Amino acid sequence: GAGKTSFTKGLAKGLGITDYVKSPTFTIVREYRHGRLPLYHMDLYRLEDGGAEDLGLEEYFEGDGVSVVEWPDFLGLSEPETYLMIHFQKDDNEDTTRHLEFVPFGQHYENLLESL
Ligand SMILES: Nc1ncnc2c1ncn2[C@@H]1O[C@H](COP(=O)(O)OP(=O)(O)OP(=O)(O)O)[C@@H](O)[C@H]1O
Ligand SMILES: [Mg+2]
Repeated sequence: GAGKTSFTKGLAKGLGITDYVKSPTFTIVREYRHGRLPLYHMDLYRLEDGGAEDLGLEEYFEGDGVSVVEWPDFLGLSEPETYLMIHFQKDDNEDTTRHLEFVPFGQHYENLLESL
């Protein structure tokens, strides 16, 4: 409940996606193809015992769309070489507040953060 799916809803809105974005927990991946760029929303929560490598998620990461991964710890060997990590932190006393920390891995995301 840190706000990962809520953040993704905002990202989808920014991409001009008008479909209702809901948590992909039971499907692992949801695809939204009607915005400026395709959005691939993944939730790997149910893969804590492994198995991410068998899903071929690399195809999403290597394509031209935007991939959002909740619970990326479970990607294993499928982890992309470059990505933007976003850490979400809840405030213990203030439920309407979230702290987000953006950490770039790779030049592309360093440039992106600088332009933000
Ligand atoms: N920035 C925010 N400010 C206030 N409330 C928020 C914020 N982000 C999310 N919430 C609220 O927190 C709750 C959980 O949010 P959300 O489902 O986005 O979390 P999540 O990190 O995707 O959770 P999960 O780990 O279950 O996938 C929702 O009720 C949502 O409205
Ligand atoms: Mg979620």
